[in-house]
Amino acid sequence: MQSDKINAMKNKLFLSLIGASLLLSACQPNKPQQKNDLEARVDSVLNLMTLEEKVGQLTLFTSDMDQTGAFIRKEYENDIKQAKVGAIFNAYGADYTRYLQEMAIKNTRLRIPLIFGYDVVHGHRTIFPVPLGEAASWDLEAIEKSARIAAIEASAEGLHWTFAPMCDVTRDPRWGRIVEGAGEDPFLASKIAVARVNGFQGDDVYQTNTLAACVKHFAAYGASQAGRDYHAVDMSERMLRETYMPPYKAAIDAGALTVMTSFNDLNGIPVTASRYLMTEILRDEWGFSGFVVTDYTSIMELLYHGVAGDTLEAAEKSINAGVDMDMQSGFYQTALVSLVEQKRVDVAVIDQAVRNILKVKFQLGLFDDPFRYSSNEREKQEIMKPEFLDAARDVARKSIVLLKNENQLLPLDKNTKTIAVIGPFADNQRELIGSWSAAGDWSKSVSLLEGIRTKVPNVNILHAMGSEITGDETSMIKEAVATARKADVVILAVGEAAWMSGEAASRTKLDLPEIQQQLVEAIHETGKPIVVVLMNGRPLTINWIDENIPSVLETWFLGTTTGHAIADVIFGDYNPSGKLPVTFPRSVGQIPIHYDMRNTGRPFNPDSKFTSKYLDESNDPLYVFGHGLSYTTFSYGPVTLSNQSINENETLEASVTITNTGNYAGTEIAQLYIHDPVASVARPVKELKGFKKVELMPNESKTIAFTIGFDELAFYRENMSFGVEAGQINVMIGTNSRDTQSASFMLE
Ligand code: BGC
Repeated sequence: MQSDKINAMKNKLFLSLIGASLLLSACQPNKPQQKNDLEARVDSVLNLMTLEEKVGQLTLFTSDMDQTGAFIRKEYENDIKQAKVGAIFNAYGADYTRYLQEMAIKNTRLRIPLIFGYDVVHGHRTIFPVPLGEAASWDLEAIEKSARIAAIEASAEGLHWTFAPMCDVTRDPRWGRIVEGAGEDPFLASKIAVARVNGFQGDDVYQTNTLAACVKHFAAYGASQAGRDYHAVDMSERMLRETYMPPYKAAIDAGALTVMTSFNDLNGIPVTASRYLMTEILRDEWGFSGFVVTDYTSIMELLYHGVAGDTLEAAEKSINAGVDMDMQSGFYQTALVSLVEQKRVDVAVIDQAVRNILKVKFQLGLFDDPFRYSSNEREKQEIMKPEFLDAARDVARKSIVLLKNENQLLPLDKNTKTIAVIGPFADNQRELIGSWSAAGDWSKSVSLLEGIRTKVPNVNILHAMGSEITGDETSMIKEAVATARKADVVILAVGEAAWMSGEAASRTKLDLPEIQQQLVEAIHETGKPIVVVLMNGRPLTINWIDENIPSVLETWFLGTTTGHAIADVIFGDYNPSGKLPVTFPRSVGQIPIHYDMRNTGRPFNPDSKFTSKYLDESNDPLYVFGHGLSYTTFSYGPVTLSNQSINENETLEASVTITNTGNYAGTEIAQLYIHDPVASVARPVKELKGFKKVELMPNESKTIAFTIGFDELAFYRENMSFGVEAGQINVMIGTNSRDTQSASFMLE
């Protein structure tokens, strides 16, 4: 009774404080200035909360969509009204988010605002290239800008929080989720992760045009066994730290406010129950101070992993591991109060999880004004602005990789008489926005055909679909062949449907769907010059195309402005500069294949059987990591080093002069790799440690320099300490991971 009275008094006091704070915020936002200030405010709320209210903050449920629009399930509505839920995802729109927020604010004792999350992965309304494609731009500024625009649009529709960036390194293109990340390399993926966090969160996450970022899927999800989604992961600590951890860590160091657990187990412990990952590494080692959310129902999935026998045990394992928020399984809601009563979970553990979540809500300004993101005005103004579409087109064309260009078939002459645009992707809009396309409207995307027609209105453009994306209906091929015969050149758009990559979209074959392969071969029979335009979310084993088709453009899924971006490249208004962020294998049997492998004790030797190789396939990939051609050519001079030796506290400069030796102005992405040939641990044959974009006019040369020091040279040594080792270091600079110039120096 006594404590009820005290609670009631506290409550009254707090409500009037919140009221005052809301009033205040109307004219002067009550932004928490300092850490202590923030923590004091968080505690001032926490101290008022009952255990049930605390557990409510740890629960995240989805909103739904049907033909009539967005709606909230009745049971979740009741949960919101009873403070049993602290966050909602898949809800957006100024009116709808205001409606849900009012439900929380008006009905609950403490009026703690909801946080609204959504998968804003590569754009919200204006859709940018899929992340793997965008990574091929190697353009950190453009990538940051795309995330910035995504945040402006999404926050204008009431969203506070995005489930991005996806920071999973992967070397397995069978895994459909390869499309969501930045490819195979930890260095490139780390830079891109930082750019994305900076873009989403802006300079100041308190501003209403930002989103809290969520680093996912922590950890090592990209190594799912055999490329099968949700599968187990078993790996050495060295591989975990060297290859898989860097992008997560970089994103957290960049200030990402939240982290999402992954579905997989790591060495037998499901990640969502891993205290080692969620507390020892994330909090204790890396100092992460935001909140951790599960991926979807992964607390419930502990039952299927076989590490928990019932709801209580699953919730107990997760909360004690350091997982703050339960997405969608509802296990925390069901179990945590009893677990505290049974003394299986300490209330201090719950308090800490609540603190982590409330802190982010304060940082976003939700306690100052829970409705500050739900603005009809901004929602009208900030969507698909012309400058957003320009930025999307800019990064889209930067993401295109020219895989092959025999006899300079590309760029096409704008005065070509007749061009046939053929293939299931020629006049397609639906696939262009790829997987995780947020609130993107595919009907607003520019098809390849439209892009070409707009670019060259005076050219006679013919079109035939030729085939569906999948299936075995061959009847359209004949008409496509007839159409091709009438043209001077054929643009043939083939690839994977958007659903063939992304979550739960693993493949054991990486070939073009058979029907499209038949189409390509039939068109090739006509003898017409062909440009293949690939649209896909992963590396494909397009060996036949590589052998038989003169020009091949990898365009991934480029988003809303696809057709314009590809037309810019095809007709030479933009000289392609993209480079592959991932190796393209020749066959599935080579997987995992990546450029930074170790040499082995029996490196490949064609004359010796007992060396590391296959009987039936080369060791080489189809296209190496970092590969990408231009309409011009670049030559690299020798690598020069500013010093022949340095110690671990010093740096040196490695320089190279690059010359544009062709006929077009172009941009080259020069790549720096290093190799430590003798160390306590066998080192990868090459590791990317820097890259620079260089713009060159024909005949122009520029000298670029990379700084090399501790950061580029340190690694996990034999005893797993992180540092350098004395000895020779090889430095390689070049146009891709295979064709490089090299020099060496001594590390003392
Ligand atoms: C995916 C996450 C996503 C979440 C919420 C899960 O199935 O793995 O990447 O953020 O759903 O939509």
